[in-house]
Amino acid sequence: MTKGEIFAMGAEFVPVQELSKSLKAVPKNYIAPEDKVPVVTHEPGKSVPVVDLCDFNLSPEQHERVVREIASASSEWGFFQVINHGIDVTKPQKVSREFFELPKEEKLKYAAKEYGFKSDGYGSKISNAADAVQLWRDYFFLCTSPKRNLDSWPAQPLQYKEVMSGLSDDFLMLTRKILGFLSEGVGLPTDYFEKRFGVPNQSILTNYYPGCPEPDKVLGIEPHSDFGGLTLLLQDGIPGLQVLQNNTWVVVEPIPGAITINISDLLELMSNGRYQSVIHRVKVNASRPRMSIASNYSCLFDSTVAPAPELIDEDHPQLYKPVKFGDYVQEVVKKGPTGKAYMFINHDSKPEYMLLPKH
Ligand code: OGA
Ligand code: NI
Repeated sequence: MTKGEIFAMGAEFVPVQELSKSLKAVPKNYIAPEDKVPVVTHEPGKSVPVVDLCDFNLSPEQHERVVREIASASSEWGFFQVINHGIDVTKPQKVSREFFELPKEEKLKYAAKEYGFKSDGYGSKISNAADAVQLWRDYFFLCTSPKRNLDSWPAQPLQYKEVMSGLSDDFLMLTRKILGFLSEGVGLPTDYFEKRFGVPNQSILTNYYPGCPEPDKVLGIEPHSDFGGLTLLLQDGIPGLQVLQNNTWVVVEPIPGAITINISDLLELMSNGRYQSVIHRVKVNASRPRMSIASNYSCLFDSTVAPAPELIDEDHPQLYKPVKFGDYVQEVVKKGPTGKAYMFINHDSKPEYMLLPKH
């Protein structure tokens, strides 16, 4: 591979991890707009609900409880954490951390070739929007379903391909089960949402947030909602993820071994707003890097999704228009998080974060 190819995504690609090694102050283009929304942490009753999946040994009563808890968390918070889900989360975190700890030259062999979410690779910037603030985050993006191009995945650490492939399989299985609970939670047949998505389009995005000399001035990820269907997320032990709830940022406490799950835009659309794809952001730390592994499940780019006709009636008018997923992704990559306006029927309605008090 020639040098030209390595930097094909943009000559300006400098991993934040490299920047953070020498800087005492953050460069101007990384400074995020001021945000006066209060932050809440450790307040009883004010945290993302935790659902015990009991390793799926669920009695009929427990099954009912899980459906109820997941449905109410998804409509009130858009987020919940699951425990006793039966997935090994330590190996994927280990191999991913080992990848980011490799020398820069080794990682740059895998530099992503384009912005957005169409090719595997290492990068630092996803949106190409002219006014986008740079994020204090490097990433590795893997396309995991329908096709895995293992040749383009890291050859080091040696177990990387096998472990991340296994995580993709485990996440596909868990996603199907969660989609089943979510379907039942709005009174639809268990396989409803899974069928509507069709062939799974799944990706795994590992986010690496280096320590930052001025952590309060930057964001690891700006306020956004996820544009796919359902997101599964592994946090390491370090807090950073915050969810918008009643005009307050609420910290999603890392629970060892738990998986954080959030409704993404396509499920908000398909459920005609019964489930909410909620705004969240990521803060960074002064001294320690933080890493998360986020996996999104959606439909193929050329599929169109629409609100479930069963969920539209006089009391619940249709709020969203059918969208072709590929067009929607393009809109969000081009415009940043404001691209969400594309799926509303009422063009005057604004995504929640556009209403956030700033300054
Ligand atoms: C994301 C995201 C949260 C985190 O990747 O879309 O919101 O904790 N990540 O890294
Ligand atoms: Ni997100």
